[in-house]
Amino acid sequence: MDDGNGRGRTHPAPTGSPRDPPASFAEQATVSNGGIHEEFDANWPDCWDRAAELLSWIEPYDTVLDDEDAPFYRWFTGGKLNAAANCVDRHVEQGRKTHTAIRWEGKRGERATYTYQDLYVAINEIAAGLRELGVETDDVVTIYLPMIPELPITMLACARIGAPHSVVFAGLSADALATRMDAAESEYLITCDGYYRRGDAFNQKSKADNARLALEQDVRTVVVDRLGEDLPHVLGDAEWDYHELQATHAGETVEPVARDAEDMLFLMYTSGTTGEPKGVVHTTGGYLSHVAWTSRAVLDIEPEDTYWCGADIGWITGHSYIVYGPLALGTTTVMYEGTPDYPDRDRLWEIIDRNAVDVFYTAPTAVRAFMKWGAEYPGRYDLSSLRLLGTVGEPISPRPWNWYREHVGGGECPIVDTWWQTETGAILVSTLPGVDEMKPGASGRPLPGIDAQVVDADGTPVAAGDTGYLTITRPWPGMARTLYDGDERFVREYWERFSDPDTDDWNYFSGDTACLDEDGYITVLGRVDDVISVEGKQLSSMEIESAITSVDGIAEAAVVGRSSDSGDETDIYAYVSTERGYDGTDVRASIVGNVESVIGEAAVPRDIVFTPELPKTRSGKIMRRLLEDIANGESLGDTSALRNPEIVGEIQAERDGR
Ligand code: WT7
Repeated sequence: MDDGNGRGRTHPAPTGSPRDPPASFAEQATVSNGGIHEEFDANWPDCWDRAAELLSWIEPYDTVLDDEDAPFYRWFTGGKLNAAANCVDRHVEQGRKTHTAIRWEGKRGERATYTYQDLYVAINEIAAGLRELGVETDDVVTIYLPMIPELPITMLACARIGAPHSVVFAGLSADALATRMDAAESEYLITCDGYYRRGDAFNQKSKADNARLALEQDVRTVVVDRLGEDLPHVLGDAEWDYHELQATHAGETVEPVARDAEDMLFLMYTSGTTGEPKGVVHTTGGYLSHVAWTSRAVLDIEPEDTYWCGADIGWITGHSYIVYGPLALGTTTVMYEGTPDYPDRDRLWEIIDRNAVDVFYTAPTAVRAFMKWGAEYPGRYDLSSLRLLGTVGEPISPRPWNWYREHVGGGECPIVDTWWQTETGAILVSTLPGVDEMKPGASGRPLPGIDAQVVDADGTPVAAGDTGYLTITRPWPGMARTLYDGDERFVREYWERFSDPDTDDWNYFSGDTACLDEDGYITVLGRVDDVISVEGKQLSSMEIESAITSVDGIAEAAVVGRSSDSGDETDIYAYVSTERGYDGTDVRASIVGNVESVIGEAAVPRDIVFTPELPKTRSGKIMRRLLEDIANGESLGDTSALRNPEIVGEIQAERDGR
């Protein structure tokens, strides 16, 4: 980060003491070759053949990377493939019909198992149904479903017929759905009558109806009956019942469409806490190669594993690491409809125990919640089937990292802290769990074949230990190809800042700040906007938060800047939630002391507000912007994007009562 003199700051990012992967893990890891980084570098970009080789191609590609029209890179050009055939047909053809593809755990304790053959049949029938509705190659199909098996089945049915899907997270509003369907000019919608939230039936169809009213185009809608008698509904014009549509095509098969490697596989609108949603375009060959390769090399997924990623398929993590990556590898992927604390806070551990889950991948926000609830919940179950743990979505500081390893991983499992984005499609920075030493708090080096740099405001790489902007300096197969709204915006949002078109020097700007250590490990600090300027110093909110959460008894913290009363200074304002058994009086002094010793006096919060929870977006990210508005006594605007809007009033009351 720029300190005004063009130099970076030099206090190190908070990382714990390094750990080697256990020998028992390294021995069996899918990637255990310590020289793999160098091997990839020496042979770049052809090293990416290694990823493409994991797929079955209808026609082989002739060029690995075409960079003629940078930053509009093209990967595996000339190749043809079908994503659904890669995720399902080939496993069926290879004698694995009866292998479990999806293990579904419903919200009310229901369970369902889909073998690869079951999946094959269902996908074909729905593909035939979509064809009957008029869906043609390249038509965008919008899917607005919760975590039920019909969601991945519909995605793969779309992929089979070459119709890009656009999945809209089921919890988003009618407005959000309408905006996305309008932007994509989508004329097909797959939704459901409703779903259960906690114990109650919740109406999804009425949101879908409202969205359709707002749209200019005619929309053909397919409705999954999830709730039966609990929420009777009547189908109107241009509406079909999902299971009836499937039944009328029972036993039919649809030839998978041969897609060009560069044809669009799907559109994904980024959740974004501000601004117009961006329709990120992912293609078939590069994306699928990259997610399959990282599922194997980073998440260590084997076909015989039971693998569980706790994200929602409505976000990129679920697309890449519940659906496409794991199924491309032919493994068993667990899909969980519920929340971690319903009916009780031991739900996840019960599922891991019962299914003997081998690899578990979740978000730091979830880990902090587990830590807050206490070790007794995982302690009730046998979690010894776990071999590897992963995190994604936010920085994870050393304390929750250690807690996760100890209480979920039995002190043994390696943890991969995977950095990537909706736009990157797949993991770019992480340790390789069988090869690299782990440093709690740091993600790791860029993966083999990936080149990242941390640069200052002028684009010059910073020295080890300094913070700056995280850029990716070579293209990668899973990268977004453009924004659906236009190439210009794509260049403006991601490339302009650190590229020089005159010398054809293209560097992708992630929008994150990060710190690089002497071993090349990257600690991602957060979004560029999450930086607070105090007395002319740039302080990263994540570093301060990490200093707070390393105090015993603190579960989560968020810090924001508040203009001082005179208006010409910024004070730091901290929101903190404690673990069970602690309260504010116990920890206030330790917070101040620790922030002062780890970062310095300037970073000590002027105010600390204790709250049972922090406001989160539906994808689990802390809404710092909202906390900043609360701190500054500003009006809050729309809080409907929050997962827990009720907490806002509590925080305001807490602030005003002090
Ligand atoms: C942003 C991308 C891609 C998966 C889920 C979110 C943050 C992601 C990490 C990590 C620190 C991380 C970054 C990034 N992020 N992984 N391991 N350590 N920060 O996708 O919604 O597109 O968000 O999530 O700030 O830019 P997304």
